[in-house]
Amino acid sequence: QSGLKTKRLGSRIEYLEQCASTQIVAHQLAQEGALDGTVVIADLQTEGRGRLMRKWDSAKGQGIWMSIILRPDVPPHKAPQFTLVAAVAIVRAIQSITGLEASIKWPNDILFGNKKATGILTELQSDADGIQALIIGIGVNVNQEREDFDAAVKEIATSLRLESGQAVNRRKLVQEILRYLEIYTEMYIELGFGPLKELWEGHSATIGKAVRARMTRETLEGIAEGITEDGVLQLRTADGKLHGIYSADIELK
Ligand code: BTN
Repeated sequence: QSGLKTKRLGSRIEYLEQCASTQIVAHQLAQEGALDGTVVIADLQTEGRGRLMRKWDSAKGQGIWMSIILRPDVPPHKAPQFTLVAAVAIVRAIQSITGLEASIKWPNDILFGNKKATGILTELQSDADGIQALIIGIGVNVNQEREDFDAAVKEIATSLRLESGQAVNRRKLVQEILRYLEIYTEMYIELGFGPLKELWEGHSATIGKAVRARMTRETLEGIAEGITEDGVLQLRTADGKLHGIYSADIELK
């Protein structure tokens, strides 16, 4: 009895006690033809991964480690928008279940203050015909206490329990994330990114702020003015130039 209130998302749920990474399992299932809305959830990941090949600390039974397979009919350059749509869905779901107000740091971190509670990793399977599958990986720190975090992230990570002072029901939160993600992906397909961009900006910790953007080859400092329709961050440097940032680590100054 999953208690899901969705039609598409979670129509198939693969629950695993343990796996290397739900991203790897979801990629495999997508290759084998798993349908849009298939969800992979694990209690423990031994090789949870984050953006930029980083390790993702995925302690047993304390977080939500899940990957969602979507098969939207959109061109590949629109894939990053789904990360932003997922971020809005997660912030709303957290608010609905715990009353907590999180904010989004571009592109994909969900924060309380300067500490990260959730990461999103969107990966793509595509060929000459376009997107075959989007694999949206979501990691939410739910019930960790401070000592549960690896030393490497102790100072920069937080959990919903630490923020709210009480344990949070993971199953209810998964249901709510899927419910909002279904609502927002349908809104996206019907109305495009416009309304979601506004929702995203409303929850953003980045827009209007002075930031430092660290990229592979350079670091830029300036004001984050907004995001484009494609989810590209617009950064204005002191010389007045506007830069489109496609991928970076953002530090709020
Ligand atoms: C990031 O902030 O760098 C993204 C973190 C994404 C973590 C989730 S947990 C579920 C899924 N499986 C993984 O190995 N990673 C994603």
